[in-house]
Amino acid sequence: MTVKEFIPSPYTKPVASGNTRYKSPSNIALVKYWGKKENQIPANPSISFTLNECATVTTLSYRKADRPNDAFSFEISLDGKKEEGFKPKIKTFFERVYPYLPFLKEYHFEIETSNSFPHSSGIASSASGMSALALCLMEIERNLDPGMSADFFNRKASFLARLGSGSAARSIKGSLVQWGEHAGTEGSSDLYGIEYPYKVHSVFNDYCDTILLVDKGQKQVSSTVGHDLMHNHPFSKQRFDQAHENLSKLRSIFESGNLDEFIGLVESEALTLHAMMMTSRPYFILMKPNTLEIINRIWAYREATKTHVCFTLDAGANVHVLYPKNEKALVERFIADELAGYCQNGQFIHDHVGRGARKIN
Ligand code: DP6
Repeated sequence: MTVKEFIPSPYTKPVASGNTRYKSPSNIALVKYWGKKENQIPANPSISFTLNECATVTTLSYRKADRPNDAFSFEISLDGKKEEGFKPKIKTFFERVYPYLPFLKEYHFEIETSNSFPHSSGIASSASGMSALALCLMEIERNLDPGMSADFFNRKASFLARLGSGSAARSIKGSLVQWGEHAGTEGSSDLYGIEYPYKVHSVFNDYCDTILLVDKGQKQVSSTVGHDLMHNHPFSKQRFDQAHENLSKLRSIFESGNLDEFIGLVESEALTLHAMMMTSRPYFILMKPNTLEIINRIWAYREATKTHVCFTLDAGANVHVLYPKNEKALVERFIADELAGYCQNGQFIHDHVGRGARKIN
């Protein structure tokens, strides 16, 4: 599939107005996307667990204008309050997807969005937010072109979401989603995410992720800047090669359910992501002292109990604690007793692997 295939033929059915609503989850990468080329093409393939509780609900209302607008016409609100601050990001998104959604200038849009998690908590609201908006836009396109297949709908939704935020490409459909071309993964593409196509051991179907909110403040360095610093990074080539290798290794780990190997790979990916930040120029550190305290506590607990609790990190100070469901009771106790104290206001969110976005009527 090439970019051209996402440029639609003239639409067959007129649509005057309507509204549509989608709920899209956040996701947590196991092999990280860090570094990109032009047009939101990832420098390396990545794979993530889809989350269930951390999600964005977006309602898109649309009304056809009397004649096509010169510019995009839209309003956006968060939790019922107009958010002028979100407009530039949405405008950039509309500009990027306009070649693939030529109806965009023919309508006025009202975008109403709300997150199940605190905004700027460091949980990737761009992944759930952009995928929910992309799905709403695809719903309009499906009304204009009712013959569209479900496969194409999801693929193009992921393609559009990617143009909003790379990781959003992995928040459309499936529990384990890979985005980025990888020689060992049939059907993988830099343009959109795919459901992991190989055998996955049942232990991963309901894997748990508790997100520890270590620092909810604004990050000093945005992901966009961080991605950019991978250009001219002294270790970028090795890092991108390593991501390919890790994806290859995951194939047998997913199949066998070997949790010791899973833990080694996932924790190494998280620390490598942050090592890339610390070794770029300019260098920066997003982990906080409590991030390290938590990591050390997790290692000590795992050693003492022989459970399979491990951690991963996003581009921030928060810690995702990953563990199999059959250890849930034990690990939740450990989190409440030993880790909550390192979280801002003792806050954490229990989540688990979900199945993807869904339409809400
Ligand atoms: C560390 O998807 O937020 O979470 O494409 O610039 O929007 P943009 O970046 P974004 O980057 C996510 C980086 C990451 C790793 C990952 O999710 O794979």
